[in-house]
Amino acid sequence: MTAEINLSAKAQNLVDLENKYGAHNYHPVPVVIDKGLGVHVWDVDGKQYYDFLSAYSAVNQGHCHPRITKTLIEQSQKLALTSRAFYNSVLGEYEKYMTGIFGYDRLLPMNTGAEGVETALKLARKWGYEKKGVTENDAKIIVCEGNFHGRTISIVSASTDPEARHHYGPFTPGFVTIPYDDIPALSEALQDTNVVGFLVEPIQGEAGVYVPQDGYIKTCYEMCKAANVLFIADEVQTGIARTGKLLACDHEGVKPDLLILGKALSGGMYPVSAVLANDDVMLCVKPGQHGSTYGGNPLGCKIAMTAMEVVFDENLADNAEKLGELLRKELRAIQSDRITKVRGKGLLNAIIIKEKDGISAWEVCLKLAENGLLAKPTHGDIIRFAPPLVITEAQILECVAIIKKTIEAIN
Ligand SMILES: Cc1ncc(COP(=O)(O)O)c(C=O)c1O
Repeated sequence: MTAEINLSAKAQNLVDLENKYGAHNYHPVPVVIDKGLGVHVWDVDGKQYYDFLSAYSAVNQGHCHPRITKTLIEQSQKLALTSRAFYNSVLGEYEKYMTGIFGYDRLLPMNTGAEGVETALKLARKWGYEKKGVTENDAKIIVCEGNFHGRTISIVSASTDPEARHHYGPFTPGFVTIPYDDIPALSEALQDTNVVGFLVEPIQGEAGVYVPQDGYIKTCYEMCKAANVLFIADEVQTGIARTGKLLACDHEGVKPDLLILGKALSGGMYPVSAVLANDDVMLCVKPGQHGSTYGGNPLGCKIAMTAMEVVFDENLADNAEKLGELLRKELRAIQSDRITKVRGKGLLNAIIIKEKDGISAWEVCLKLAENGLLAKPTHGDIIRFAPPLVITEAQILECVAIIKKTIEAIN
């Protein structure tokens, strides 16, 4: 049995355009989305789907949230971009708002998640040389196997994914790789006094939603403190209520030295990322030493403030916590040897699919799409389930029914 999606002529034409004129750096599920609202998207032929990917957890607040859209329209008609050559009337208010929420002295604004990570790496190195006293060019940053922090040369230098790295060398030196969720390995790596930072995802999202053992993040944080090493949390995917708390680090009461945010910080409306830190670290960077033309633009700042208000006003963290538990319970109740594992936290979840009769996670996703639910495999046999956090209990149950029907039909 082979799953296929028969595209309309209109949809096929749009796919052909991307294939002909675009770089082939993605392998999308063959669905052409035209419209989105809340937990739903519609394709160019008007078919409705549940979005169970949320643009890789960027659309936590739901597609085209009316409050965020309104802010976008209003601010875009007033002032969109000044660059940082001048002050603007929104950035300071935004920085005060965000540092207040997350409890840091300062924020450095960027645009994409990868830029946020790059910024954190640079800050950690600078702090290492200027505060810790590491000899110039000797700084090291510990990273984990299976990490995903973005796509720049330095970030793929820290990656262990052969596909992400192939033919992109020479790589940036200064990374030490240890297994994820391995406290003894971190302890050993921290012996090196040239280590300035430990960069970690509280849950490895892209790798397949790997949730570490309870206490891992807290123990790592404490070990970093003891070794005078910065604990750097990449919460680009796990942050902004996705895992049932505002930050995934909140589950263990950890406040990272460097916090990296992106994606849902702007509710999927505009590229906004940020690094938060206290004075000791942030003030190591002086004028001219780092920046971005769009970083801190008034449009992005306004959008991000509204996106955060939505997170609080609509209790999205509590909803993610509650409905995540329900989702995992219902998925585990599906009687099928096709699903070999269900895991996750809040509404960041994954199932592992057993390949059988030529049907793998990819074909399951095609069938799910046919049945009205969009998801995408990550790393072969794993399918991530991460709907917008505005989803309701009734909608979760409807989605579980779609997943159950799909799995039963291919068994
Ligand atoms: C944990 C993590 N960090 C960084 C990034 C990179 O973000 P962006 O694609 O916005 O550069 C991602 C993207 O998936 C991510 O999941």
